[in-house]
Amino acid sequence: MKRLAVAALLAATTLASSANAADKPLEARGTWSVTTRGSAPLPPMGWNSWNAFGTDIDEEKVIASAQLIVDSGLAAKGYRYVNIDDGWWAKRRQADGRVLIRTDNFPSARTADGNTSFRPFTDRLHAMGLKAGIYSEIGRNSCGQIYGDPAGPGQPAGTMAEREIGLYGHIDQDIALYFGEWNFDYIKVDGCGIRALAADSPQVKSGRLRALDPLIDYDTIPRTNIPAVKGLFDQVGQALSRNKPGNDFVLSICLWGSADVRSWARTLGNLSRTSEDISPNWERMLHNLDSASRRELYAKPNSWNDPDMLFIGSGEFDDAHLTEARSHMSLWAMLNAPLIIGFDLRKASPAMMGVLGNAQVIALNQDAAAHQAVLAYDGDSVQIFTKTLADGTKAVALFNRTGSPIDVKLIASHLKYRADQPITLTDLWDGDTKSFTNEMPVHLERHQTLLFKASGTREHAQGLYLSEQPGNVNPAVDGIVHPMADPMVYRGLLPWRSTKADGEHPVYGGWGGARADATPFAQTPKIAGKTYHNAIGTLANSRLEVRNTGFSTFTTLAGIDDSVADPTARVRFSVHADGKLLKQTGWMKPGDAPAAIAVPVKGAKIVELVAEGNRPEMQNVAVDWAEAALDR
Ligand code: GLA
Repeated sequence: MKRLAVAALLAATTLASSANAADKPLEARGTWSVTTRGSAPLPPMGWNSWNAFGTDIDEEKVIASAQLIVDSGLAAKGYRYVNIDDGWWAKRRQADGRVLIRTDNFPSARTADGNTSFRPFTDRLHAMGLKAGIYSEIGRNSCGQIYGDPAGPGQPAGTMAEREIGLYGHIDQDIALYFGEWNFDYIKVDGCGIRALAADSPQVKSGRLRALDPLIDYDTIPRTNIPAVKGLFDQVGQALSRNKPGNDFVLSICLWGSADVRSWARTLGNLSRTSEDISPNWERMLHNLDSASRRELYAKPNSWNDPDMLFIGSGEFDDAHLTEARSHMSLWAMLNAPLIIGFDLRKASPAMMGVLGNAQVIALNQDAAAHQAVLAYDGDSVQIFTKTLADGTKAVALFNRTGSPIDVKLIASHLKYRADQPITLTDLWDGDTKSFTNEMPVHLERHQTLLFKASGTREHAQGLYLSEQPGNVNPAVDGIVHPMADPMVYRGLLPWRSTKADGEHPVYGGWGGARADATPFAQTPKIAGKTYHNAIGTLANSRLEVRNTGFSTFTTLAGIDDSVADPTARVRFSVHADGKLLKQTGWMKPGDAPAAIAVPVKGAKIVELVAEGNRPEMQNVAVDWAEAALDR
């Protein structure tokens, strides 16, 4: 009897707490809400066929690059996933829905019974010490089928139904085949089929492909069915968990920043594309970089921002553009972007292999502390990124975005190092070492990135600012109610469209997201007339989860940012340790001096920072956790 009552009480509590989680998103719960599905504790590294070959792929090409990855020593440096992209499907067999492989291009996939199998191919890669990746599509038809040349290479053939090789309606069956039977380790899942096949699309009107009412309106966030898109990717994740024992898989979400994927990718996938496709030209690289570079708080161990694959070796990143190739590599490394080579390595020169294989640069990307770089200086012509490393030192990248040389200054405070103590820099491309105090003039050639490892005396010797450890700060709720397009992304000439439209209007949701050392709208944090260079900027109605890696005290100055124009806005701030309230301020108004908070957090795993607003929708109300730090 007593036992029953306890069980009933427990059940009721569980029900109540899961109801609270949905109804009360600001309620502290003491958990870290980044997905535990899949395995990408550090950014995945490897190779993918798309940038090198498009849909014109075959086994020989893939294995040749795989062999070179091993033989050149790149595998030993961490490149281990070898991923085939679009172009491998023959058709979906109608009798049983099984997807068949193009055996003319992948001869080892031939089987006596006609079923076809990638198992010999994945076995071969595994025997080489590599991991194997496959590509699919969340809709019925792949991007290549929709946007590529229907008569081009790599297109599935047969009836309309046979050509429906995407996961839509077949998630469990296909994932069981790819992972259970064929033993892949990694899957990239695209979304063109849920974006482009409205009844009035040319592909449907021509009778070539079947209509699928788009879930994603790529140009209009409010017309996108975000929960439905998320639901489909969740089903993929669940199927992966079922079919890959040991959780050893990677789910790469390829939604190009649409469907507000920025806000939910961390709960479902191991990497998530932040933009449309990269091209081998400078302007496009800037575009892709910008789509991820201000999302430093949205990259976490097991879920990374993906500004798309490397284009090193091609176009404006080839041998004649070594400076540009090094910049591309340096920036992707600093951003903790997945390092996925997109080049036919049979054609790679020693110089290109040197760029891809620079062990010091790779080490930044794979650093165990796993913090995406933060913008210490953010301009249209020059940007300075800094990254806190596991050994207590920092990396700094000074990046000239323009086509002309520029002279700039690196100052101690960019690194949050003391200006009165020496700072030592080691150049990670040429090995040179130099020292300076206070500030150092730096000459940047056109398109150049100077990349240094830096050591100095920390300004905040007693601990770490939260903005120095973005990998440990998770915006579980960032206050965005209506996702808005990010206006900060470089809009170059779209290589595949030139000026045949009215300009580029990327609709990558994310504007207003939480930031390190900036407000959500890219201003310098300021409270009651005072500027703060160390802060987490977020919106009212937000909850940040902070992983405490052994610190004893949390301190901050919390307040409404001076950029807020609404005099009726009220916010109260609270700090929690493992779900327990430690401190709550009164309701504060714009212009109020910040509230000083210092609370003991020793032994707590998760510190939560909640900024509760006086209305449900306060997307224009920026707040600052100024000088927020965890101290010893
Ligand atoms: C989309 C993706 C690319 C590539 C192609 C294949 O465009 O963004 O990375 O996978 O599809 O068709």
